[in-house]
Amino acid sequence: MSKTLDDLFSHNRVWAAQMERERPGFFTGLVKQQTPKYMWIGCSDSRVPANQITGLDPGEVFVHRNVANVVVHSDLNALSAIQFAVERLKVEHIMVVGHYGCSGVQAALEGARIGLADNWLRHIQDVRDRHRDLLEKLPETQRADALCDLNVIEQVVNVCVSTVMVDAWARGQQVSIHGWAFGVHDGLLQDLQMSVASTDSIEPLYRAAIRGVIAARS
Ligand code: CO
Repeated sequence: MSKTLDDLFSHNRVWAAQMERERPGFFTGLVKQQTPKYMWIGCSDSRVPANQITGLDPGEVFVHRNVANVVVHSDLNALSAIQFAVERLKVEHIMVVGHYGCSGVQAALEGARIGLADNWLRHIQDVRDRHRDLLEKLPETQRADALCDLNVIEQVVNVCVSTVMVDAWARGQQVSIHGWAFGVHDGLLQDLQMSVASTDSIEPLYRAAIRGVIAARS
């Protein structure tokens, strides 16, 4: 059922009135500050809305989304969002969330040319190439989902080695970085067992998580 722009505004008015009725002062409370405990780094895909999936209200999750949930070392947009979340908002958890059926991951797996985004997806092709031997041993039907998982794990590492996280952990700030994947087909989040809370633990957790992904899909 397709919705018009007018529908969006009328839904918005109903929603705002309902929130205010159920929780008087909700919006005036939000005006004062946001104090989210969580930062979500996810794919821009319209089927993966951070708040709805996790039942989090406005004010509870700080969100950064881009095509195929990539964290590039020099991406000022992502790094600025991470810095703001960690240093200003003092989030306790950052989750990098991939999703199965991601067209960005699929294009990277196939090496398909789609345009400007090829350069962005090149980062995922690098992930594919790094794990080529492992991916090729998997049944063909599992490779796209496996690359989705591997991409998440690699992007968790990229968050962990950013100056923001290196500095945060060096000064003793408690922040954990997690790798999750969302099933568009069943609405469920999977924990990829890649939860990092210190610079020292990146390497062993990374190796175990990669082994876990491959074992689960072999
Ligand atoms: Co996607």
